[in-house]
Amino acid sequence: MYQAPRGTADILPEDQRYWSYVAAVAAEAAHTSGYSRIDTPVFEDTGLFKRTVGEETDIVQKEMYSFEDRGGQEVTLRPEGTAAVCRAYLEHGLHNQAQPVRLFYLSPMFRYDRPQAGRYRQFHQFGAEAIGDAGAAVDLEMIQLAMSMLDRLGLSGMTLVLNNIGDAADRPAYVEALREHFRPHLAHLGPDDRRRFDTSPLRLLDSKELAGEAFMDDAPRSTDYLGAEASAHWEELVGYLDALGVPYRLDHKLVRGLDYYTRTVFEVHPDEGGAQSAVCAGGRYDGLIEQLGGAPTPGIGFAAGIERIIANLRQQEVGVPEVRPHPAVIAYRGAAAKAAAVALATELRAGGHAAVVAPERSLKAQMRYASSIGAPTVLILGEAELAKGVVTVRDMATAEQREVRRADVGTALPRP
Ligand code: HAM
Repeated sequence: MYQAPRGTADILPEDQRYWSYVAAVAAEAAHTSGYSRIDTPVFEDTGLFKRTVGEETDIVQKEMYSFEDRGGQEVTLRPEGTAAVCRAYLEHGLHNQAQPVRLFYLSPMFRYDRPQAGRYRQFHQFGAEAIGDAGAAVDLEMIQLAMSMLDRLGLSGMTLVLNNIGDAADRPAYVEALREHFRPHLAHLGPDDRRRFDTSPLRLLDSKELAGEAFMDDAPRSTDYLGAEASAHWEELVGYLDALGVPYRLDHKLVRGLDYYTRTVFEVHPDEGGAQSAVCAGGRYDGLIEQLGGAPTPGIGFAAGIERIIANLRQQEVGVPEVRPHPAVIAYRGAAAKAAAVALATELRAGGHAAVVAPERSLKAQMRYASSIGAPTVLILGEAELAKGVVTVRDMATAEQREVRRADVGTALPRP
């Protein structure tokens, strides 16, 4: 039998309440901070991601679902949302609107990654992007949006981890310092890390193979290589966080796995998390719009993994409202009553009530069906009811039954 592709998941009816809850709470948090929803296509030109996420990143090297379509176009199922939102920002002239433009999305993403707990090949992100404002107050706003969304969801024990990787102009000196630091240890480096040493030495800082090595502890820190502007920006942001009492942990090894980041980078981890634990991650990308052919335009954003958020909601046993419908079940006995049941269901639905006709079984089996789907009410139609022009209304919680005139059944049901 066929199974869902590896690394993908069906979201079954009983799981939907988590998805509705997270989507509603995240959208509310976003609206509260002035963000409007944007949706972009599931696939884009492959070049968009190569150009922005970076040719040397794991995402572009190993993880993209790329293919040539029937017209010979190279397209890719989007592995992330930021590049697409920036493409849309330029394409639709959003740079002509008042800046910054605040946008959010909730969309499926695709990465051909090795599936494991918290890591999927199709997953979903809630993301937010503020484009067109370089000020540190927007960095604060973005961090607060991430934290407040988690808080509104009822999650606790979430730690904000922060770093600043500087501007493009600060990068060469820092990269050189890193190479100098790692050069004596080249012999210890595996093939992946050797490649990183040549192409993107920052990424050595979050290499899994090197974690725990003594020479990692005294690796040069990006915050010591900030230019004057990046430095002032950093001071301002940290000043806001301190003044507002927002807890955070500085992590000089936090570099992120996408190439477009500049200055502020951050992640949010649950205190009891493993390696794949980041529930939110993001940062500033002041060069990205320009890379796509736009005028120099700063930007900042983050994305949260919905599957990881839901795993935390389950683990912390957060109460999540039920959204499944609980229709009234119309039970019947006899052919004439069945016709009346079908007519009653039609009428009730037209009046906005949830109602289904019981499957054709004995009355007893129909009652069992109603109870197993959680019907709050059963409406019973038999010969006696038909003769009297009434319906027997059974409250499933109390097992109380009463007769209601056929014309008044709608008012006897709980309000939709
Ligand atoms: P990212 O760190 O690649 O950043 O992903 C953000 C979040 O998406 C992760 O922290 C995690 O919660 C979730 N995530 C990533 N990969 C997977 C996966 N394979 N399975 C399940 N969840 C996953 C970005 O995507 C950036 N676009 C974020 C951003 C927005 N930066 C600026 N604006």
